[in-house]
Amino acid sequence: MKINIGVFFGGRSVEHEVSVISALQAIRAFDREKYDVTPIYITREGRFYTGEALGHIEEFRDIPALLKKSQEVLPAMENGRLKLVRQPAPRFGKAVAAEIDVAFPIVHGTNVEDGALQGFLRTLGVPFAGCDVFASAVGMDKFAMKALFRERGLPVLPCLRFTAREVFDGPEAVADRIMEKIGLPVVVKPVNLGSSVGIRLARDREALLDALDYAVSFAAAVIAEKAVENLRELNCAVLGDADGVEASEVEEPIAGDEILSYEDKYVSNAKGGAKSGGKSGMQSLKRLLPAPISPELREKVRHCACEAFLALDCAGVSRIDFLMDGKTGETWVNEINTIPGSLSFYLWEPLGKPYARLLDELVELALKRSRSAAEMNYTIDTGILKNASFGGAKGAKSSSAKR
Ligand SMILES: Nc1ncnc2c1ncn2[C@@H]1O[C@H](COP(=O)(O)OP(=O)(O)O)[C@@H](O)[C@H]1O
Ligand SMILES: [Mg+2]
Repeated sequence: MKINIGVFFGGRSVEHEVSVISALQAIRAFDREKYDVTPIYITREGRFYTGEALGHIEEFRDIPALLKKSQEVLPAMENGRLKLVRQPAPRFGKAVAAEIDVAFPIVHGTNVEDGALQGFLRTLGVPFAGCDVFASAVGMDKFAMKALFRERGLPVLPCLRFTAREVFDGPEAVADRIMEKIGLPVVVKPVNLGSSVGIRLARDREALLDALDYAVSFAAAVIAEKAVENLRELNCAVLGDADGVEASEVEEPIAGDEILSYEDKYVSNAKGGAKSGGKSGMQSLKRLLPAPISPELREKVRHCACEAFLALDCAGVSRIDFLMDGKTGETWVNEINTIPGSLSFYLWEPLGKPYARLLDELVELALKRSRSAAEMNYTIDTGILKNASFGGAKGAKSSSAKR
């Protein structure tokens, strides 16, 4: 029997388009001998659609036309399976458009990758691939993740967190604290975005005030962090869960600008140069793979990547990104991407793991987690409701729920 995979993608996120690219790459890579794959596209309005046309990247050039060809659905559980129920309910024909055994979120950014979609799937009770709610939520918050990395003894740059309210009310005071505690140059980032959105490097106080003002236009909180000079970047993915992890090859992405921009990551090569073979998405970024670094540094990066993955209790595949001062060789863990662009499949190929096998392992890990969850006790029958009463029509006030 084939396993039915439901690939969820899109969503109310600034990284909506990147998610479409990552998801459609994965949909093509699943081994069809083992899996049936159903695309489930979440629109920017938070509506769910399925249908054959959603598996073709060209169709996304005209999304309204694509949605007309597709079927709106509502996810609902029945007998332990996720059913996609046609919406509105059809007068004739089948009410269920597809059934899913394992949900596969390939989403990037807030409202989806940050534990929101994972929480929804967990509430429904369908097995899903990748990080659970906690790791997804912490992995989206650049301040919270660094706190856990630091706790685990990993090298992390000094940083401060400010709410947008603090920046609006007293930008000068915020700048004072940053100058005192961190100094210049400094990088200011929205706390929970990706793809370099809202990030600026400041080399003087005026630029710092501008950077703060800019970052708070994207998020309710920002971080200010020591800027790394002579910047080189290294990325390494990790696959597994708390029972065991393995690290991928290490890549060095090449920036075209001071800050590796959205343009660098997703647009500059999207049309396909000789090297990218017409592919687009994170895997087509200009990069050196393997990164030209010493075997010792490579092992250090791979070890720290595994530690970072474990620090957040991740599962599935995550990519851990490092910043390095190219002159001193000093290296810091920068961030984790709990659903990396292109699922970082290209980092596993040099180690002999083709994309289809990476996907197999991710499905296995999802099923394993759901089996161990099934063994846990979620129902303790206290009998509390057997004699429950609020003591008459007006009695609701006198009874309170103790927990
Ligand atoms: N502390 C820093 N010093 C120098 N450059 C930085 C620093 N932090 C981030 N950058 C640059 O900005 C890019 C995006 O920052 P990052 O923290 O990775 O956020 P995102 O989630 O948007 O990818 C990095 O890839 C790097 O090029
Ligand atoms: Mg990054």
